[in-house]
Order: sequence, then structure tokens, then C-alpha cells
Amino acid sequence: MSPHRSAVHHPVLAPHPGATHRIHLTAAEVSVVVDVTDGRSPAITHWGAALGPLGDEGLDAVCEAAVDVVVQNAVDVPVRIALLPQAADGWLGRPGLSGAREDGSGWSPRLVTEAIALDGQPLGASHAESGPGLLRFDLADAELGLAVVVELELLPSGLLRQRAALTNTGETPYLLDELTLAVPVPAHADELLDFAGRWVKERTPQRREFTVGTHLRENRRGRTGADSAHVLHAGPSGFGFREGEVWGVHTAFSGNHRHLAEQVNTGRRVLGGGELLLPGELRLAPDEQYTGPWLYASYGNGLDEVASRFHRHLRSRPHHVDARRPVTLNVWEAVYFDHDLARLKDLADRAAAIGVERFVLDDGWFGSRRDDTSGLGDWVVSDEVWPQGLAPLVDHVRGLGMEFGLWFEPEMVNEDSEVARAHPEWIMAPSPDRMPLRSRSQQVLNLTIPEAYAHVRDQMMTVLDSCEIAYIKWDHNRDLLESATRATGRAAVHEQTAATYRLMDELKVAHRGLEIESCSSGGARVDLGVLERTDRVWVSDCIDPLDRQQMNRWTSQLIPLELMGSHIASGRSHTTGRLHTLGFRALSALFGHLGIEWDLARATEAELAELREWIALYKEQRELLFTGDLVRADRGDSVLWLHGVVSPQRDRALFTLACVGRSDQSQHDRLRFPGLDPEARYRVRPLLLGEGPTGMSLPPWWRRAAAQDGVVVPGAVLLRSGLAAPLIDPEQGMLFSLTREGAVSPAAHD
Ligand code: DGJ
Repeated sequence: MSPHRSAVHHPVLAPHPGATHRIHLTAAEVSVVVDVTDGRSPAITHWGAALGPLGDEGLDAVCEAAVDVVVQNAVDVPVRIALLPQAADGWLGRPGLSGAREDGSGWSPRLVTEAIALDGQPLGASHAESGPGLLRFDLADAELGLAVVVELELLPSGLLRQRAALTNTGETPYLLDELTLAVPVPAHADELLDFAGRWVKERTPQRREFTVGTHLRENRRGRTGADSAHVLHAGPSGFGFREGEVWGVHTAFSGNHRHLAEQVNTGRRVLGGGELLLPGELRLAPDEQYTGPWLYASYGNGLDEVASRFHRHLRSRPHHVDARRPVTLNVWEAVYFDHDLARLKDLADRAAAIGVERFVLDDGWFGSRRDDTSGLGDWVVSDEVWPQGLAPLVDHVRGLGMEFGLWFEPEMVNEDSEVARAHPEWIMAPSPDRMPLRSRSQQVLNLTIPEAYAHVRDQMMTVLDSCEIAYIKWDHNRDLLESATRATGRAAVHEQTAATYRLMDELKVAHRGLEIESCSSGGARVDLGVLERTDRVWVSDCIDPLDRQQMNRWTSQLIPLELMGSHIASGRSHTTGRLHTLGFRALSALFGHLGIEWDLARATEAELAELREWIALYKEQRELLFTGDLVRADRGDSVLWLHGVVSPQRDRALFTLACVGRSDQSQHDRLRFPGLDPEARYRVRPLLLGEGPTGMSLPPWWRRAAAQDGVVVPGAVLLRSGLAAPLIDPEQGMLFSLTREGAVSPAAHD
């Protein structure tokens, strides 16, 4: 990640100068074709639907089609879009590599390919066909003293990822401004979809036309951001969950970063991304190297397939979480800073009695932290509120059969804290004499200073060693504004992000099995960089189920449900003031890693009984939820949203129907259930818990299903024609369970 001294790389194989290599990778119905014509820098010439075995003729045809026709008043050679697009090849859009020597020279590289390897083996033949695999390109501009290794990997899920590492092979420092990778998308991808958002309203979708120019999403928050682009998609106008070819990219990084969609006046379009470096942040001394983050790229028919490639990839990792995600109670909205042992033990008793499996103590247990103005950075249990330490609570929680989790915010500090008083130089600031504006009354602790890093690590380790803590809620509650090393004034967001990752890794190595939740003022740190070392994200501080219908729906465009913290809160939302029934709150939380965030001492017996039923249902369904495919129905502007999870064998499914508004029409369009096997027959059972939704006006099939053990319907009907939709009140919902009937539909054989 960070620049480090490294030996100048040695090419795996030096192809004949000017040699042409064409490589076709394919996996899970996706093909990627890469072209290295005449030893120039590599270019993707196809990324999209699988092409089948291509042979030499096919490969040549695909690569030729990606080359512009030479036109008047433009460069005299054919231009194509390289992985690292460069002016030396005639590209007039955003260059992949930007930077210069201190005297201003060396800013326009002409990188050529010196070596290519596939899965670690030098690439021999000029044309190659392979399944999934990792391609490595060693590029260099010997004259300018620059060497770049680009790795491009097609994963078994069909997800494509690329990253680039730059080495300064010259004799003077090189100031790197940007290393942005690009992937081409075709001209019929004329609409963009990405995300905006704010605190308590993360990941709100926005669409626009893909026109000439650059749609640039730059992030200077030093964290992923509530308004992160999340996944930047391109596709034909109106593309939906199930329809339209869609291409999407995601920059897997938690510090400053960018996503972009660019169209130049030739009509060529690219999606791209990389780290955003601040002025002077990356100065590479001779032989130093910088490695950028992975840029993930997912292609599919509809947004569901794009999402499913991310999900399959994440689920295939050896360290991915177990599908039995424990029901979690987090105390934040129950007690806030009011830490009282008796009250918390009582909350734990009530939680255990309804089936909770993990109990998390939030902010307020350390130092002088009695509210958010003081004590942050002092990771020592407070004598004032915890005179006997945390052990009495931890032992109590564990004695009830639950795991214990604890909140930290390791990268932050209040100026009113022991650590800030002792080491004001550890606070990030643009100069020794000027502090950044406070945000949530706090500043950023500079983990790039080895002593500061060691201080935080050691204090955290001491707490973790003192009792059985299975889980950390890792918070990060402010943007990195003017974040520099105070003594020098040099920007340090890049290094700070690296230090945060390192600290997470170190804690995990020292405490095997420790889970970490990525929280950042709610959902401002959701990305595949942090998810390499964390096990869950907190989607939002807004637990209002109506808003969560939207936020969870779009957060899962990148991450699977088991990584998405999804809680049932009290009846009146603490962030919106809206009131919701327990049924709607629980049904909305069910499609995620379920938790409770509610002072259960205030819940009625009836509510506790219903909550117990929802928790039991979650435990029954979690394996399906966390191994199945997420499917979301395209329902135009209907206020009835339908989404579900279908098992990999397509023999079980669970669907939610949520009414998110009031319709102008009295009838709803039919419910078509995506993802099912058209050749199977399914038993459809409404799942009714508690009082059920209000305002129900039910179609005949529903009445029959409720009176008997469901109704049996051919998969093709559910998938393609649909069932009549019930009418329910706004902010109400219902669940359906579908199971395949043993026999194959006779109609399938007609
Ligand atoms: C922000 C988080 O999102 C909340 O859940 C809570 O942990 C607070 N911080 C505590 O300060």
C-alpha cells in the first residue's frame, strides 16, 4: 500500500520487442479479452458476456473491433483504451498515470509491455485462452525511469479486478499524482447509476445520462463516505435489477478515492477508479514503490447479477463469516452514555431470554467519556462508571450464553483527553499552529506516528486481554479534514489509511476469531478494502425501517446480507421520529445480520413475545439468507417492493413484500418472483407473525394459502406471469416462504 523500498522488478519474461499477445479469460458467463499489440501497453478489448472458445480468428476480431478507425484531424494511428490510458498512445481523456519529476519532466510516460505472466507462468504463445486467472503485465518506460506492474484477475465468480503498482526506477524523486485504472464499456451503455447520501441516509441512488465529459466522484473525507459512489454502473437506459446489460466498478479503498465515468468525443467510454492522492502525498524516492487499491469490475444481466458476483466472491474467501450470524443486541439506542451495571445486566437478561446471542457495549465505557466532548482516545476502562472494571458485565453476559462485544474509535481523539494533553503533536493538523475544525467535538489521531500507533494498539490489546471480547464495533466519526502530520504539515491520509488497516490486521492476528464491525457515523465506511479485515458493516445510524428498506437494498448491491448490520429498534425512530409497527421493523431487519437496538425494559410483554418469534424465524432462515442469491423484482414505480433470497439449488426461497408509500392506483401490478426455476413447482406460504400487516385486502390465492398449507404454483407462473398482489397499508410488509415440490412440473416436458 504505502511506498516502500523494493528491488527493481525483473520481468518474468521479456517478449520479443513489439510482440503481439492476445489473451482470453472466461469464468461464470463472463469473458475478458486483453490485447498487447506490438508490445504496447495492455488494453481490455472485451469485458462482458461470455464469448465461448475464440480461437485465433475470434481473438483477432475482438481486438480489432476495439480499435478506432483513423479519422482526419486526429492522430494518424488507430487508438484504443489501455488499462492505464496514456497520451503516448493517442488517448486524450484522463490519463491512468499522472505525476512528474521535481523539475517538471517525466509527466507523459510511454509505457510498453516487457513481460506477461498468466497465473505466475510466463506467457509463451501469442494467443491464449484460459478460465479464471491472474494476468500480470510488467510495463516500463525505461527513458523516464518508471515501471508499473498491472495485475488483472478474473475471479471464479466472474468478477474482474485490477490493480497497479508503480516503481520509481529513475534517479530522482517522482511525485505521483494519480494512478487510475480504466475499463471500457460499450456505447450502448448510455445511462449511469451510482450513489450519494448523507449521515442517516446513506447510499441513495442517482441516475444520469452518460454523456461526453467526466462524471467524477471524488472523495476527500479520508473514509469511504456516506455519499460514496459505492458501485458506479453503466448500462442501457432504464436498466433494472433483472434487465439490461450492466457494468459496474468499485474502488476497494477506505481513504480518499475516486470513481469516474468518462466519455470522450470519439464516443469511447470508460469506467475507472483509484486512490485520490493529496498534493505532495506520494513522493517516490528512487526504487520506491506505490501500490494502488483493487478496482473491482462486475458485469451482469441486470443489477442483481452484478451484485451476485460481488457476493459470490466475498463468500468464497476462506475468512468469510459463518452463515450462523449471531443475533446481536447493541446498547447504543437503549442507554446511550448512561452506563450503569445493574441496568445493563438487566438488559442482558432480557436479551438472552428472547434469543439474543451477542451483547455489544457501545460508546462511553472509557476515560472521561460521559458524553461526546471528552475522553476519546483514552482506551482505559473508566473507574468512575466501571469501578470493578468490565468483568462483572462481561461475566454476566457470557454466563447467559452470549458473546460480548465492545466499541472503540481508535483513529480519533477529543482534545479534552489524557492522550491529547500529553501528546498534542499526535493530533493531525495542517501546521503546528493551526488545528482543523472540530467535528463531533473531535480530532484525528495520527496513527502514522509510530509512538501514537503503539499507544493505541497497546491500550486496545490490554482491554482485549483483560476479558473475553469476541467482537469490536470499530467506529470512525469524522471526516479527515486537513489531515496532515502536525510537525511537517505533510498530507497523511494515504498513510493513515494504511495504518488503520495494519492495526485491524494486528489485532486480528493477536486475537484469533475476533470479529470487527466497520462503523463510521453509521454507514460511512462500507468498501471492499475495509471488508478484507472486518466482518460486518453498520449500514446507518438510521434504523427507521422505511429508510432501511432503501439503504439495505442498495448497500447489498456490493455486499451480501450477512455482512450488513440490520437492527430492530424501538417503535419511534430515534433519527426520523416516525412510528412503525414491530412487524414492519422486524421484517425490514430480517434481510441482514439481525440485531436489536432498543431498551427492552420499555418493551411490553406482547412485544417481547413477538420479538422472540422474529428471532426464532431469523435463526431458522439465516442459512438460506446467507448462502442464497439475493433477487430484487423490477416493479417500475410501484410502491410495493419485492425482494428475496433464493437458495443455490433453487429449492427454497424467502421473499419480502414491503409497501413503501401510497399508490395513485387502487390495484397493484402482479407479483413476479425472480430467481426461481421455471421448470419446478413451488409451494407458496405466507409467513405471518404477530399481528400481521394493517390495511390488508387479500387476493383469493392468499386466503387459500393461509387456510391450508400454502398454494402450489408452477415456477414459470411465479417467475413470468405472477400472483395477484395484496393491498396493505404503507409502511407495512409481509413475508412468503417458497419451497420446491418434489416433482418436476409435467408442463416442463410438454
Ligand atoms: C456512531 C455510531 O454509528 C453509533 O452506532 C454509535 O456507536 C455512536 N457513534 C457512538 O458514539
